[in-house]
Amino acid sequence: MPLLSWKPEYSVNREDLDRHHQEMFHILNSVYDNLMNSRESSFLLPSIDRLSGIAKYHLSVEEQCLREMCVPDIDHHIAKHREFTESIEMIRNGYYENYLEASKELIILLGEWLFNHVLKEDRKYSDMMGIPGTADKTLDN
Ligand SMILES: [Fe+2]
Repeated sequence: MPLLSWKPEYSVNREDLDRHHQEMFHILNSVYDNLMNSRESSFLLPSIDRLSGIAKYHLSVEEQCLREMCVPDIDHHIAKHREFTESIEMIRNGYYENYLEASKELIILLGEWLFNHVLKEDRKYSDMMGIPGTADKTLDN
């Protein structure tokens, strides 16, 4: 059974960003499944690589969207993105010492990211997605 499943109500109203989010849910669930069932040590590193790749690409696309919408306090939002990508690399470093601990840390990091950042912070902008220059006006109302 998956730990967290993507649902249509999680959409940020942009198909490519939704697909990236769905991929992150998939990675979370596959790492969780490996930890709970087979515990293959070789499983984690490719998952970290996949997450790192999709996260960097996804966040650059999302940041471009936020700039186009003139989102206020964008620096704070982008700082959260940087923290996330740095945390992934810290987990990669920890993998070589203790892959089970690194698996747990990845599940916690990605679970919290999807639940708190994607489903709360990113969705604030979903109604304005794709409408340039709207976020600074809409969020004030
Ligand atoms: Fe974001």
